[in-house]
Amino acid sequence: MAYMKTRIAGILAATSLVAGAANAGDVEVLHWWTSGGEAAALNVLKQDLESQGIGWQDMPVAGGGGEQAMTVLRARVTAGNAPTAVQMLGFDILDWAKEGALADLNEIAAQEGWDAVVPEALQAFARHDGKWISAPVNVHSTNWVWANKAVLDANGISVPQTWDEFVAAVEKLAAAGVTPIAQGGQAWQEATVFDAAVMSAGGPEFYKSAFIDLDEGALGSDTMKEAFDRMAFIRANVDENFSGRDWNLATAMVINGEAGFQMMGDWAKGEFLNAGKVPGTDFLCFRFPGTQEQVTFNADQFAMFDQGGMVSKEQAALASAILSPSFQSAFNVVKGSVPARTDVSDEAFDACGKQGMKDLAAAASSGNLFGSMAHGHAAPASVKNAVYDVVTAHFNGEYDSATAVEELVDAVSIAK
Ligand code: BGC
Repeated sequence: MAYMKTRIAGILAATSLVAGAANAGDVEVLHWWTSGGEAAALNVLKQDLESQGIGWQDMPVAGGGGEQAMTVLRARVTAGNAPTAVQMLGFDILDWAKEGALADLNEIAAQEGWDAVVPEALQAFARHDGKWISAPVNVHSTNWVWANKAVLDANGISVPQTWDEFVAAVEKLAAAGVTPIAQGGQAWQEATVFDAAVMSAGGPEFYKSAFIDLDEGALGSDTMKEAFDRMAFIRANVDENFSGRDWNLATAMVINGEAGFQMMGDWAKGEFLNAGKVPGTDFLCFRFPGTQEQVTFNADQFAMFDQGGMVSKEQAALASAILSPSFQSAFNVVKGSVPARTDVSDEAFDACGKQGMKDLAAAASSGNLFGSMAHGHAAPASVKNAVYDVVTAHFNGEYDSATAVEELVDAVSIAK
């Protein structure tokens, strides 16, 4: 707790809370896209707007998953100084909408026919009370594994299809003296892996009962213990310096051949591309073993903060630029995500992007698409944070798996 307070104080001190509202003709955008790959993707958006004569006031708040960005946002809004637009995930968008803080985008949505092209699963977070309240940028998913192809080849490892095959591959790398798993040590990263551990241990019905329905029986089950046991196996196969490491530095370990695998959402692909790496040649992407049919998704959206009345000209231009099919293709090719519209061609995407688009469509039509707990699309922030606490305490050796299960049941029941 003391650590959290110091950390939040640090973030607030590092960020100007009195930055002032955006100048006329500009948009001020709060986001957490600060890694190399993320910044490259963000440039696509900046340039798009600049070409329309709209200036960009950048408000980056580092920290994957956006926890720190949301802390800064709360402080800005409390100070009566909300940014023009804010990168946001799932339930956080709905929470701000319930507070009446978000602008109504219905006019632009109707003009541009968003209803017909944005998938239902995203509309559930982009609309509130009959109003469009945010502009969906992309769809990411968390149940991916990224691998260094040369490392796998050198050790005679082919893509693992099942958890047992994954265990065997990891043990082979460990025996060869290679760090099997590149992991960053922050709660949101461990929770990202936990999404897939829960899905692989229990399958889609179980994931839904535990993470979407928050059913106590599922949360307290032996299957949940198995998910924690999988996390313990992963923990046993990361290097000793993982603590505190940023996610993109873990990705760099796979890029450089210092580690075999990273389990991370497809924003990791942006790092490989930014380093000039080619899927299928330098790196491999595959679904976390045992979750090949499922997609645990999160979608970045830009929520527009009400600046006192009508949606501003700049906000409308930003929303319109984000939803345009050409931007959806250009941005997501670089970011590692897939389009937030169903009518964008996969032509410009690499093999991983094409697979991501295919998987998403298949999962949506077969009932295998679920919101990511780690990235705010399964449950509201209070529950998400409760899950973070338990998962990270277990990962860091404070609880064994049986205790973690008990703690999870209690933490979720208090938070929900
Ligand atoms: C966001 C991604 C971002 C990742 C790491 C996720 O919550 O959806 O856009 O790249 O965090 O920063």
